[in-house]
Amino acid sequence: TVIVLDFGGQYNQLVARRVRECNVYCEIYSYKTDIEKIKAMNPKGIILTGGPNSCFETDSPTYSKELFELGIPVLGLCYGAQLMMHLLGGKVEKAPIREYGKIEVQVDTNSALFKNVSPTTICWMSHNDYISNAALDFSTTAHTADCPVAAAENVNKNLYAIQFHPEVLHTVEGTKILSNFVMNVCGCAGDWIMSSFVEDSIKAIREKVGSGKVLCALSGGVDSSVAAVLLSKAVGEQLTCVFVDHGLLRKNEGDEVEEVFGPNGSYDLNFIRVNAQERFYEKLAAIEEPERKRKIIGEEFIRVFEEEAKKIGTVDFLVQGTIYPDVVESGLGGESAVIKSHHNVGGLPDFVDFKEIIEPLRDLFKDEVRKAGLELGIPENLVFRQPFPGPGLGIRIIGDVTAEKVEMVQEADAIYREEIANAGLDRSIGQYFAALTNMRSVGVMGDERTYDYAIALRAVNTVDFMTAEAAQIPWDVLGKVTSRIVNEVKHVNRVLYDCTGKPPGTIEFE
Ligand code: XMP
Repeated sequence: TVIVLDFGGQYNQLVARRVRECNVYCEIYSYKTDIEKIKAMNPKGIILTGGPNSCFETDSPTYSKELFELGIPVLGLCYGAQLMMHLLGGKVEKAPIREYGKIEVQVDTNSALFKNVSPTTICWMSHNDYISNAALDFSTTAHTADCPVAAAENVNKNLYAIQFHPEVLHTVEGTKILSNFVMNVCGCAGDWIMSSFVEDSIKAIREKVGSGKVLCALSGGVDSSVAAVLLSKAVGEQLTCVFVDHGLLRKNEGDEVEEVFGPNGSYDLNFIRVNAQERFYEKLAAIEEPERKRKIIGEEFIRVFEEEAKKIGTVDFLVQGTIYPDVVESGLGGESAVIKSHHNVGGLPDFVDFKEIIEPLRDLFKDEVRKAGLELGIPENLVFRQPFPGPGLGIRIIGDVTAEKVEMVQEADAIYREEIANAGLDRSIGQYFAALTNMRSVGVMGDERTYDYAIALRAVNTVDFMTAEAAQIPWDVLGKVTSRIVNEVKHVNRVLYDCTGKPPGTIEFE
């Protein structure tokens, strides 16, 4: 295992992901984690992440110097690099010229870290402070025009510091650098692969569950689907999956989920589909305020689920599709602030009679969940499904929700997705969907005046869904989508494209 010590940087999860891409298992811990705990874990390497502070200020996050004496290789990135230098006697100060963005870096290719890296390479920099003097016993192995120490190392002690961010994809050879660290410096075997994860998980679940009964809330999203299939492979019909169709799913989605998991599907499990569309529409009637809508949908979901769970009776285990970023974001793993808690089934535990929770995906990142899904033979269209919010189309219909509006947005969204796929863009755009604005405007169609709704198209690229930028979809694709929507979807006479990033917008409209 490699441990990532999180100092609050925005890229901390990326660091762990990149390490795992080298087939090395890695976990994130807060910088507040006790050194005894770290010692007990006996990691092969430790990576200190970036962070927003200045290490020479008194209240800034720091760590015991003992960390550098454990004989475990340490790699400091950005703040982590500065902190390492600061603690070991180097000098860190405010940089006369702040570097931000893609910067050319000259590296010493004799360093183990930069083996097979080009002598001049583009790296992602984002810092206000800089290392003006490396610590004693460190040699400088990289610099830029404005940064005298862009990397430094003490080979004897296996300590490495880099000012830039190898984890960010803009650092062209970043993966190679991280791989050099975990493979060559730390000597990791690089044998952490998905098939062994799947196999091991199935075995572990089987042991844990024994002959117990398991209940799973299946949303049809990637996480709950992969969790359900893992459980099904482990314990078969001891598993019951409840799928609540709240009438706010995308076009045909309910039937697609049933096809895969239902009695005619390919998995061994009990599948219960609850058609609760009408209930949700009734509860949502005339409600316009976004947070109230979210709350109503969430509460109704719990109520429906609870009713089903009562019919099933006591179960031994409840499955949750929690994934690693959820764990980190909820403050358990790393140091990042809790921005929003997005849990589709967040409130369930209190309402179901069960003994223990199983979270089979707790250690995986999203892309790893997808890999596990493929490994398990789940259909690709499900595995590569876009993120879809728990409240569904309820928060993509601005203002009050009606069955008619749901149909409008479903149709428009289906056309949009179809054309994006036709243009071959479906795997390259982070997230895209149609929303129904509550704006009506005047148009003309076949000599007739119309007064109809406007559909908004949204498409964003994002690394972590915390920030995002509007995707640049080719004009001809947008044109085609627009003309199909206004022609094929009743009561829509206008299509708008949302160019807003996040911030200041959010990805969803409500
Ligand atoms: P926002 O709108 O917050 O969305 O920029 C960020 C990402 O989260 C998804 N999202 C949700 N997912 N339950 C979910 O499971 C929710 O209530 C929820 N709200 C937003 C959104 O689709 C995007 O991927």
